[in-house]
Amino acid sequence: MAIVSVANQKGGVGKTTLTVNLSAALTSRGKKVLVVDTDPQGNATTSLIGLEDLDTTLLEVVMDDADVDSAIISVEKSFGTIHLLPAPPDLALANIEIEGAGTLSYMKDILHPIKNSYDYILIDTPPSVSSLMLSSLIASDGVIVPLQAEFLALEGLSQMWKLMETIRNGMNPFLELIGVVINMWDPRTILARQVLEEVKRVLGDKAFETVIPRTVRVAEAPSHTMTLLEYAPDSKATTAFLQLAEEFHRRCREMFQGVNEA
Ligand SMILES: Nc1ncnc2c1ncn2[C@@H]1O[C@H](COP(=O)(O)OP(=O)(O)OP(=O)(O)O)[C@@H](O)[C@H]1O
Ligand SMILES: [Mg+2]
Repeated sequence: MAIVSVANQKGGVGKTTLTVNLSAALTSRGKKVLVVDTDPQGNATTSLIGLEDLDTTLLEVVMDDADVDSAIISVEKSFGTIHLLPAPPDLALANIEIEGAGTLSYMKDILHPIKNSYDYILIDTPPSVSSLMLSSLIASDGVIVPLQAEFLALEGLSQMWKLMETIRNGMNPFLELIGVVINMWDPRTILARQVLEEVKRVLGDKAFETVIPRTVRVAEAPSHTMTLLEYAPDSKATTAFLQLAEEFHRRCREMFQGVNEA
């Protein structure tokens, strides 16, 4: 059992795509997964359930107006059930109220009591160093960082690295980097190949072996409220997410005691 944040303060690198499709891949392999959407943009929530009016979201749970279990939605898929703690639809309000929620341990207080009910809790975080992002990192056992294979990708990574160090020196000394995943990989561009080589050279085995290719299928799937596994089961990207799920599970099993053998 592990709580994992998908984080990179750089926007649009694939945090939400990775959270949703890695969760789907793990679910299809028999793991019980909870997706927690902490991004006020609510992209993971809309990817999984579309634009629905929700009475109970993460906001009500943070504000102590609802019990966490009552906010979790079961999303039935052909390959299994993904569990979702949705983001609040009233974005502006959510930010203000959550910023005002006091100490940064609120995500830990919410997630630790339910941790043993899931194999993995994957948190989609927003593209900024906000209270929600910090609180998610403080609640987490590990972090996955998606990286787009482009110019300056490694700059963003060094910022992420510093942020993790700060968290480790403060409220969560046990935070582990599970790995960095290259997303939107296009082998036809020289730049992408250079970024991949650079990432492997700098990070060594902290770079996941699996890279996620750029394909239009990935971007299309959420508009159909589908994960890639349903929308394009034969796509190269789907194969990549399934392979990433295996690699992720193997790494977590080695890193965290108490992760179920399977
Ligand atoms: N492998 C891929 N191939 C093609 N398109 C992709 C791929 N990964 C992500 N995208 C698209 O790129 C855009 C950004 O991805 P995503 O929303 O997952 O990033 P993000 O890091 O969560 O963004 P934000 O920082 O705004 O939360 C989306 O439109 C998504 O569909
Ligand atoms: Mg996102």
